[in-house]
Amino acid sequence: MNFTVAIDGPAAAGKGTLARALAAHFGFAYLDTGLLYRAVGAGVLAGGTPIAVARALDPADLENDALRTQAVADAASQVAVIPEVRAALVAFQRDFARRDGGVVLDGRDIGTVICPDAAVKLFVTASPDVRAERRYLELVARGITADRTAILAEVLARDARDQDRATAPLVAAADATLIDTSDLSAEAAARQAIAVVETRRL
Ligand code: CDP
Ligand code: CDP
Repeated sequence: MNFTVAIDGPAAAGKGTLARALAAHFGFAYLDTGLLYRAVGAGVLAGGTPIAVARALDPADLENDALRTQAVADAASQVAVIPEVRAALVAFQRDFARRDGGVVLDGRDIGTVICPDAAVKLFVTASPDVRAERRYLELVARGITADRTAILAEVLARDARDQDRATAPLVAAADATLIDTSDLSAEAAARQAIAVVETRRL
């Protein structure tokens, strides 16, 4: 038996935090699909061509701290507009989603394109100011000098690119449950999501 939870939303909305909380609570497997696009972005920054890098992607390359930088996030959102790059990453995501047991995937197009039949779809969002502040605090905590205004601009540019692209744009699925984490702690957001999953598991 398979049970898929699809989580989508803009940058730093709290998708990964929520996905990890659900995975821990229910014992589900978790895939952060943003890492696939980040790995392609990093490959392009290293001199590769987007489609070739995407087609040669090795899942072992995903466990890499170097993928967490703003530069890689920006490169990821640039390669993510290329239909052939997205197509090259579909099979890996769908294979993961089809595993036996519970799975959680988070990204931008999980509930709309990758897993349109997911048992649970969550669209996680928060105001741009809150999201930029969260990214700022993350960078500071990692000892990286950061500029709030530049981070907000980067987050807004990436949101616009994700929402406006022709292939698999960032949009809430019609049957997604909206969770706005602007005024929610990670724990409060997790409680809401757990409650949604529980109603679908009966
Ligand atoms: O995966 P996504 O980019 O959507 O966001 P995240 O990495 O889960 O969360 C970004 C940051 O916001 C992390 O540092 C979380 O600890 C923090 N966060 C928060 O302060 N409140 C929440 N309700 C969710 C996340
Ligand atoms: O952590 P954060 O939400 O900032 O970004 P991410 O989830 O790691 O995704 C990085 C970029 O990859 C996004 O801005 C999207 O352009 C792209 N992406 C996508 O197009 N589709 C997905 N399913 C996941 C990520």
